[in-house]
Amino acid sequence: MADKLPDVPGGPHLRTVAMPRDSNAGGDIFGGWTLSQMDLAGGTFAAERAGGRVATVAIEAMRFLRPVGVGDEVSCYCSLEEAGETSLTVKIETWARGRGRGKAPEKVTQGVFTFVALGEDGRPRKIPTENTETSGGG
Ligand SMILES: CC(C)(COP(=O)(O)OP(=O)(O)OC[C@H]1O[C@@H](n2cnc3c(N)ncnc32)[C@H](O)[C@@H]1OP(=O)(O)O)[C@@H](O)C(=O)NCCC(=O)NCCS
Repeated sequence: MADKLPDVPGGPHLRTVAMPRDSNAGGDIFGGWTLSQMDLAGGTFAAERAGGRVATVAIEAMRFLRPVGVGDEVSCYCSLEEAGETSLTVKIETWARGRGRGKAPEKVTQGVFTFVALGEDGRPRKIPTENTETSGGG
């Protein structure tokens, strides 16, 4: 059965198009490019909730499910899985709507990223609890 697009309020946190410069010798998009889009999406999502700068501290359960093709519209969906004292764990799914693969978007990656809120000294900082209700999307 096909995956269901994440039901995330406000839709995807990042949407972009995969360009030829992002492709490997086989013609598909580099996994590292997709991973960096997820990191960007999750980082801005977490920074909004942390009320400031965050750093990626861990990436877990990362799966590359389907290839991304040149020209695909790529969307990253974020949902808050867990909020700690200084960290936020964010589930991120990437969906691609592909040229040559029909019109329906399909899930191409998923992963769980942990971000730590940083203070001015670059050390972990407490996150305001009012910003950390889990969104439950996806
Ligand atoms: C982020 C950083 C400041 C955290 O410092 P630290 O001394 O490890 O911090 P702590 O041990 O106090 O942990 C801080 C939080 O991160 C969590 N954490 C640390 N390592 C983790 C890991 N591997 N997986 C999941 N969570 C982790 C801790 O559980 C804690 O969360 P909590 O306060 O919500 O309970 C430090 O690891 C760092 O600077 N790392 C480099 C970050 C970076 O360059 N990222 C890439 C570019 S953004």
